[in-house]
Amino acid sequence: VIGIIGDPVEHSLSPIMHNALFSRLNLDFIYVAFHVTPDKLEKAVEGVRALNIAGINVTIPHKTEIIPHLDEVSAEAQIIGAVNTVVNRSGRLIGFNTDGYGFEKAVSTYGGLSLKGKKIFLIGAGGAARAVAGRSLLSGANSVIITNRTWEKAEALVEDLKESFRKISSTSNAKDAAGEPRDLKCVSGIKDLNLKVIPWQKESWKQSIAAADVIVNTTSIGMNGKGNLASLIPWESVKDDAVFFDAVYAPVQTDFLIEAGRRGYKTVYGIYMLIYQGAGAFKIWTGRQPDIKVMKQVLESYLAGKGDSDVKRTGE
Ligand SMILES: NC(=O)c1ccc[n+]([C@@H]2O[C@H](COP(=O)([O-])OP(=O)(O)OC[C@H]3O[C@@H](n4cnc5c(N)ncnc54)[C@H](OP(=O)(O)O)[C@@H]3O)[C@@H](O)[C@H]2O)c1
Repeated sequence: VIGIIGDPVEHSLSPIMHNALFSRLNLDFIYVAFHVTPDKLEKAVEGVRALNIAGINVTIPHKTEIIPHLDEVSAEAQIIGAVNTVVNRSGRLIGFNTDGYGFEKAVSTYGGLSLKGKKIFLIGAGGAARAVAGRSLLSGANSVIITNRTWEKAEALVEDLKESFRKISSTSNAKDAAGEPRDLKCVSGIKDLNLKVIPWQKESWKQSIAAADVIVNTTSIGMNGKGNLASLIPWESVKDDAVFFDAVYAPVQTDFLIEAGRRGYKTVYGIYMLIYQGAGAFKIWTGRQPDIKVMKQVLESYLAGKGDSDVKRTGE
């Protein structure tokens, strides 16, 4: 049994994705959703041990709070400060974060862009931003400039990341989402971390956006069609070869990405981050490479059934 714990959890697309993979590969696994409220988190983790559940995904609001209940946490998850995947290895619960990996794979596969040496303009400072910023820095991004409606949250995120890099970069190698060694020496110390906050204003965004290689939305603006981020972008400043990424995956094509695409920019959908974070978790639990096509197909048909056929329309 593999599970997902969260509150709420009914909206999760992970059961659909993983059960399709298990059945396609004929693996004797089943993926179930467990609604776990914050007051039951510790008992839920004990339950994973007691029932010998093979692994879990962890979603809001438990991604950070679960850390002290685990036996081991990968360096990447420590840096990000959140665990989204736990594997049960002979009774030892080991936590990973595959969200950042999902972002990186989505951008490299669909945006044709490696994060190494790149300048990232990051809109938002919540959970998704944490994973994007941490992974970008781990992968050798040149800089991450963060802007958020609530300044204090962005500042706190930057301070947290700097602190965790300070702690971790002095220690040995980490393991990335797919369990492969990741040399933390690429972050050669706190001095080299180019991570800062700028105010939530179109005017002050101009300079950073003009230099940005990747423009990333991790706010929930645009989710379920609510809000318009495109109107905040100083489009005249954006570089011709900039890549736009939106973490929001419902709808698949947000107004933000539609506008970027209309202006001729490469766009990467949040659904691919979702797929690749799932792929990273699948590999950790089963040791097998998942079939990305199957994951895409099941999500496409599920979302099409809910009236969102954007992925189909683009032929991706
Ligand atoms: N594709 C994926 O795999 C993936 C993974 C994780 C999350 N997501 C998506 O990413 C989005 C954010 O998730 P999260 O977990 O990071 O949420 P979160 O921790 O609650 O953070 C929400 C972020 O959105 C900002 N925000 C919300 N409403 C806003 C508004 N009206 N104007 C300006 N900023 C606003 C918040 O700013 P304040 O700090 O000012 O409140 C904060 O930065 C969601 O749509 C989620 O579904 C996708």
